[in-house]
Formats: sequence, C-alpha cells, structure tokens
Amino acid sequence: MKKHIFYLTLILLVPLTLYILSLKTVSPIPSDDNHAGISEIKGCFECHGDDKEFPKKKTHPPKDQCFNCHKAAKKPPAAKG
Ligand code: HEC
Ligand code: HEC
Repeated sequence: MKKHIFYLTLILLVPLTLYILSLKTVSPIPSDDNHAGISEIKGCFECHGDDKEFPKKKTHPPKDQCFNCHKAAKKPPAAKG
C-alpha cells in the first residue's frame, strides 16, 4: 500500500512541477504603453522583428506564435484603458 501511495504522488507531482516551471520561464507581455492593445502578431514584429529596434535574443525559441507562450500581464485595476 505504501508503494502505491508513493507512485501516485510521483505521478501527480511530475506534471505539476513541469507546469509550474513552464509558467516561470516565459516572461509575460509587459502591460505598458508599448504593448497595450496589440492583438495581432504582426504588431509584435514592428518592434521585436530581427531588423527592428528591440529584436528578440538569438537564444529565443524559434516559434512565431507569440501568444502561445507570452500571455498579457494582468493589468492593475487602476490602469487606464
Ligand atoms: C512599440 C514597440 C513594441 C511593440 C509593438 C511590442 N513590444 Fe514587446 N517590448 C518593447 C520594448 C521597448 C521592450 C523592452 C522594455 C520593457 O521591458 O518594457 C519590450 C519587451 C517585451 C518582452 C520582454 C519583457 C521582459 O520582461 O523581458 C516581451 C515578452 C515582449 N516585449 C513581447 C511582445 C509581444 C508578444 C508583442 C506583440 C503582442 C510585443 N512585445 C510588441 C516594445 C514593443
Ligand atoms: C515557444 C515559446 C515562445 C514563443 C512562441 C515566443 N516566445 Fe518570446 N520568449 C520565450 C522565452 C522562453 C523567453 C525567455 C524568457 C525570459 O528570459 O524571461 C522569451 C523572451 C522574449 C523576449 C525578451 C527578450 C529575449 O529575447 O529574451 C521578447 C521581447 C520576446 N520573447 C518576444 C516574443 C515575440 C515578439 C514573439 C512572437 C514573434 C515570441 N516572443 C514568441 C518563449 C517564446
């Protein structure tokens, strides 16, 4: 019985750990004026494209679906729309 509990805990802990790690490594989209109201990925490249002012690092993951990984930071309630 002890053995079962051990394995059950392990099975539950592994995905939980991976989930928490996945949340920590990706920085959210800042909720500043630069990032307010962008809903299309095209908009991101205007500043973060390779030849633009704030290119992503060379080590950045290659996929271009920004919103899959970068979620908008929660706006503080007092922020203007
Ligand atoms: C008007 C220019 C501009 C646009 C458009 C823009 N960004 Fe940014 N972004 C910046 C600047 C400048 C910084 C760095 C300064 C800062 O951290 O606020 C930055 C920083 C970031 C960061 C890093 C934050 C951190 O904590 O290191 C992420 C992630 C990001 N942008 C994602 C995006 C995504 C996704 C889009 C498209 C929805 C986007 N940006 C569109 C200017 C822009
Ligand atoms: C596969 C997941 C993934 C996708 C898709 C993704 N990013 Fe990132 N991004 C990351 C990770 C991981 C980091 C590093 C986070 C850190 O260092 O805090 C990062 C960091 C950044 C940074 C901070 C500077 C840097 O290069 O480390 C910016 C800006 C950024 N991403 C913009 C974008 C934009 C714009 C897109 C869409 C074209 C995009 N990201 C798509 C995972 C992703």
